[in-house]
Amino acid sequence: KKEYQLTVLPGEGIGTEVVDAAVLVLQELAKIYQFSLDINYGLIGKSAYQQLGNYFPELTAKLCQNSDGILFGAVSQGGLLELRKRFDFYLNVRPVRPLLSLLDKSSLKAEKLIGVDLLFVRELVSGIYFGAAGRGKDEQGDYGYHTMKYYDWEIKRIARFALQKAQQRKKLLTVAHKQNALPHLPWSALVKAEAHNFPDVKIEPMLVDTLAMQLVINPQHFDVILAGNLFGDILSDLGGALVGSIGLLGSASINANGFGMYEPVHGTAPDLAGKGIANPLGTFNAVGLMLQQWGENQAAQKLIQTQENLLAKGYRTADLYSQTESEILVNTKTFTNLFIQEMYQ
Ligand code: IPM
Ligand code: MN
Repeated sequence: KKEYQLTVLPGEGIGTEVVDAAVLVLQELAKIYQFSLDINYGLIGKSAYQQLGNYFPELTAKLCQNSDGILFGAVSQGGLLELRKRFDFYLNVRPVRPLLSLLDKSSLKAEKLIGVDLLFVRELVSGIYFGAAGRGKDEQGDYGYHTMKYYDWEIKRIARFALQKAQQRKKLLTVAHKQNALPHLPWSALVKAEAHNFPDVKIEPMLVDTLAMQLVINPQHFDVILAGNLFGDILSDLGGALVGSIGLLGSASINANGFGMYEPVHGTAPDLAGKGIANPLGTFNAVGLMLQQWGENQAAQKLIQTQENLLAKGYRTADLYSQTESEILVNTKTFTNLFIQEMYQ
């Protein structure tokens, strides 16, 4: 029987609520698919700062280091970027697939959504999030700056991963760039330079502004979308609008050793926090990505199937509830209990 060491970092806001829900579901999956879990909780973000004086304490880093994966909730400030950098989680994947029962929740018409299956591949440990930055003052006044710097090798290593993914999928790789204004960051040329081992993948460079527009006009066109850190952040929220709620999306951040952290795409949601009404599906989907990474594919598949089944019965958290007769509004705990029951159907 396989045993996995899991580090859980709930963080704050709805992070703790959705992570609690996800751990219950994960423990149930462990029973069904006969693996075991050794779960350790760690502090990150505000609570870490309050108790240990640091947003990403060394204690937490050590806990992560000795585990097979990190389940992360959300933080509002501090800790997250340090964690990503510390373990060189440069590969961030964010799958976007509309669910059949939720086609009416999208900002787009259902006919535009059927068959949409996107995979955002976002560079996560470099670019403007990590470049030289600061505040200063000169004769024109106070100023601030952040620098977008990428080593060619940083772009090439994520390009190889995106090419691989495209090859396993529909063989189209769209590369987000902004070469008309940022010519020293030649994303498309660097990706093409890595493409020799992937002759059947079509590479489609696209200006990121055009890409944002095309994602709304014709999302069915796309397959894998590669983007740098900032552009990938912005585009992946657009993905949330496509499927009806950002609360549905999960993400995986992986390093070169295959070690990863798994988190919902949404944040702490201060407006929902403490009310017990957050949608846990984004975190369930993050758990699904973790299970895939661990090779527990049946368990991952169960998560996907169960959400389709449960949503088809009309159960909705507040973000997806529109007061129609076929819908039943439930809170996070009830949704999670129903989800667990549904896994056994
Ligand atoms: C995300 C989040 C983070 C990011 C924030 C919280 C720093 O928006 O994971 O998409 O921008 O990477
Ligand atoms: Mn974001």
